[in-house]
Amino acid sequence: MRVLVAGGAGYIGSVVTAALVADGHEVTVLDDLSTGHADAVVEGARLAQVSLHDSAPVLADVRPDAVLHFAARSLVAVSQQQPEDYWSTNVAGSLALLEAMRAVDCRRIVFSSTAATYGEPDQVPIREDAPTRPTNTYGASKLAVDHMLTSYAVAHGFAAVSLRYFNVAGAAFGLGERHATETHLIPLALQVAAGQRESLTVFGRDYPTPDGTCIRDYVHVGDLSDAHLLALSAPSAGEHRIYNLGNGTGFSVQEVVDAAREVTGHEIPTVDGPRRPGDPAQLVASSDLIRADLGWTPRHTDLVGIVRDAWDVAR
Ligand SMILES: NC(=O)c1ccc[n+]([C@@H]2O[C@H](COP(=O)([O-])OP(=O)(O)OC[C@H]3O[C@@H](n4cnc5c(N)ncnc54)[C@H](O)[C@@H]3O)[C@@H](O)[C@H]2O)c1
Repeated sequence: MRVLVAGGAGYIGSVVTAALVADGHEVTVLDDLSTGHADAVVEGARLAQVSLHDSAPVLADVRPDAVLHFAARSLVAVSQQQPEDYWSTNVAGSLALLEAMRAVDCRRIVFSSTAATYGEPDQVPIREDAPTRPTNTYGASKLAVDHMLTSYAVAHGFAAVSLRYFNVAGAAFGLGERHATETHLIPLALQVAAGQRESLTVFGRDYPTPDGTCIRDYVHVGDLSDAHLLALSAPSAGEHRIYNLGNGTGFSVQEVVDAAREVTGHEIPTVDGPRRPGDPAQLVASSDLIRADLGWTPRHTDLVGIVRDAWDVAR
């Protein structure tokens, strides 16, 4: 298949690009390198350094059979301070991409949605039919694109899948997280182990969880990549499917710190901070739907293994 990967120079997109190339697909990465890295694009894939907003000429040139769309701004706190960047990149940029697809009659797309579309859940594990009540502009902008895809499926015959990731972690094909502004727990803990930070702040130890710290669902980027390859050919024209992607097991902040200590052999000092507003006690996905529909089975569910994979590429 000829595939265009928007955001393929970023963490998750670069791993999926590597998997697509390994599978024999012809891949073009469209990325403005605002948070991505040219050297994360594997040999065998072509890089077009272009913004989503200007994607039409690239699509006209490549004429892809399908698009995988990872390109986005994705920092929750920044989305509250600079919402314009989030509506512009995540919503207007996605609209430009969909219109560029329509212009070349490419109607197959897999989109990186997020657990942040749900907001604070009434029930855990979170299923796809849970209410969507995002608590920040980032989640709202991703939910807007999910709605956009539903309407493009109905009106224009798009075959679309939104994959709602929970916390993506680990590494594959030698590619791991390299965010200039890092907000994710596992890389932050590993930065302390590597001597790049003095300590890790634990936000709240008084949650109603067994050890008092928040519980989150960490899905390995290699498992996520498998899901994208399955999703690519799954929907028919006119169909928009939404699937959660999580490990199915939650791990607490303290368990992550303990795993990072075990893997790195470093003490990883922590500092106790207050709860952060809008941080629910538990966010765990039900991924039963994608398991049943597409036969997706995560292979890397062990926390220590996930942290070890991240550490192996971080050093
Ligand atoms: N990392 C996670 O845990 C997680 C969880 C849920 C959802 N997601 C979503 O998955 C996707 C990928 O996340 P990631 O962690 O790999 O992020 P990332 O920042 O590493 O990758 C995003 C890529 O998109 C590119 N990009 C941004 N704006 C662009 C634009 N206007 N035009 C072209 N390219 C642009 C960036 O340069 C970067 O290479 C994002 O859409 C994110 O919202 C990530």
